[in-house]
Amino acid sequence: MKKTEKPAVQKAWGGVFNQATDPRMEKFTESIHFDSRMYRQDIVGSQAHAKMLAKVGVLTDEECQKIVAGLDAIREEIEAGKFTYHIALEDIHMHIEKALIERIGDTGRKLHTGRSRNDQVSTDFRLWVRDAIDTLDGLLLNLQRAFVGRCDADFDCILPGYTHTQRAQPVLAPHYWLAYCEKYARDRQRLADCRRRVNTLSLGAAALAGTSIPIDRFETARLLGFEAVAANSLDVSSDRDFALEFTFDLALIAEHLSTWAEEWILWSTVEFNFIQLPQRFCTGSSIMPQKVNPDLLELIRGKTGRVVGDLQTLLVLVKGLPLAYNRDLQEDKPPVFDAFDTVSASLELAAEMVSDMRLNREGIREKLDRGYLDATTFMEYLIKKGIPQRTAHGMVGRLVRKAMDAGVRLADLPITDYQAECAELDASVYKVLGVERAVAAFVSYGSTAAKEVRKQINRWKKRV
Ligand code: ARG
Repeated sequence: MKKTEKPAVQKAWGGVFNQATDPRMEKFTESIHFDSRMYRQDIVGSQAHAKMLAKVGVLTDEECQKIVAGLDAIREEIEAGKFTYHIALEDIHMHIEKALIERIGDTGRKLHTGRSRNDQVSTDFRLWVRDAIDTLDGLLLNLQRAFVGRCDADFDCILPGYTHTQRAQPVLAPHYWLAYCEKYARDRQRLADCRRRVNTLSLGAAALAGTSIPIDRFETARLLGFEAVAANSLDVSSDRDFALEFTFDLALIAEHLSTWAEEWILWSTVEFNFIQLPQRFCTGSSIMPQKVNPDLLELIRGKTGRVVGDLQTLLVLVKGLPLAYNRDLQEDKPPVFDAFDTVSASLELAAEMVSDMRLNREGIREKLDRGYLDATTFMEYLIKKGIPQRTAHGMVGRLVRKAMDAGVRLADLPITDYQAECAELDASVYKVLGVERAVAAFVSYGSTAAKEVRKQINRWKKRV
C-alpha cells in the first residue's frame, strides 16, 4: 500500500492518516447498523447544539437556520427511506453530519464546533433512553389497567394461594391481580427514578475535558428538556450508569413477567384447570392433534433469559474501563435495544392476554376443598378463644392428619374429634370451616379480606 494513498470515502478524521482503513476494520467497527435507530435523537441534539452556538455568537442566526432546516430535511429523507447508509461512515453521527455538509455546504462544517462524538453519542443515547422510559411507563400502565379491569368481574372467585407451590390459604382472585399491579408499580417508580439520572445533559463535555469554545451548556439543556447538566466532563464522557440501571429495570420487569407467565402456564394445564388462555396466543403441535400450547407465555418467560443476558453484557462491558471514553462503549447499545424490544413486546402482549384470559370457575371450585386451605384461619379461631398459638397449631395439625387419613375435609370430621382436642369446642366450629368462611375471616390491612381487597381495587382504579 502506497504511503500517500487516501481512503475511498473521505473520513471526517482523515487528515492525519496516510493509509486507507482496512475494509474488514470498517466492517468490524461500524455501528450504523444499530445506531441508525437514534437518528431522531441525533438530529434534535444537533439542532439544539446549533441554536446554542447561535445564542452565544459562535454561529450567525442565518447559519443556525440553515443547519436546523438542513437537519429537518435529512430527517424527512431518513423517514421516507431515501437515506443511504455506508459502513465507511461508521455511525449515525457521521452519516448525518456528512449529509448536512453535502446539503448546505461549508456552514455544515461548523456544526461540530465545541462538541465531540463522545458527548454526542452519550446525549443521543440519553434522549433515546428517556423516550424508551416514557414508552415503557405507558405499557406498564396498560398492563396494570388490564389487571384492574378484571377485578370487579372476578371479585367473588376464590383461588388457592400457594407457598412452595403447595396449597396454603385461599385468596380472592383480585388479590392475585393486584399483587401484580404492585410489582409493576414498583417497576414504574424505578424507571421514573432512573429517568432523573438519564435526563442529564452530556453535550459540551466534548471529548473528555470540555471545550475552549464559550458554549452555554445550560441553554442546550433547556432546549433538550434535560433537568441537569453533567458537572464533570471526564465523568460524563465515560458514564454509562444510566444505560445499566435502565437495563436492570428492564430485567426486573422481565422477571416479574416471567413469574406471572409461569403461574399462568401452570394454571392453564389440565392438572390445575384454573384458566383458559385466548387461543390466538397459543399454538398447536405438528404431531399431537389435541395440543394447545401456551407458547406466548413460555416465550415471555424464556426471553427473560436474554434480558438478564443483556444486563450481564453491559456489566462486563464497562468493567475496568479507564476514564474517559473508550470505543468499547459503542457496544452498549445493542443490549439496551434488545432488552427494550423484548420487554416492550412482552408487556404489550401480556396486557391483552390478561384481559382475554377466562377463569374456569367450575374447575377451580371443584378442587377448592382440597388441601386444607382453611386450616390456618381455623387455628386463628382457636387462638381467639384463648388457646396459645403453638398449642392451637398442634391441635389443628392433628385434626388435619385425621381428616387426611379419612380422605375428608376438616368440616367433615365429627364434633367428637374437635372435642377430643379441646373439650370446650362445640358445633360452632363448623361456622368457621370451609374456604369461603376462611376468606371471610381475614381482617388485616393488605390481606385478602373482601373489604380490604375492595379498598385496594378502589385505590387502583383511581391510580390507573
Ligand atoms: N460510534 C461511537 C459510539 O457509539 C461514537 C463515538 C466515537 N468516538 C470516537 N472517539 N471514536 O461510541
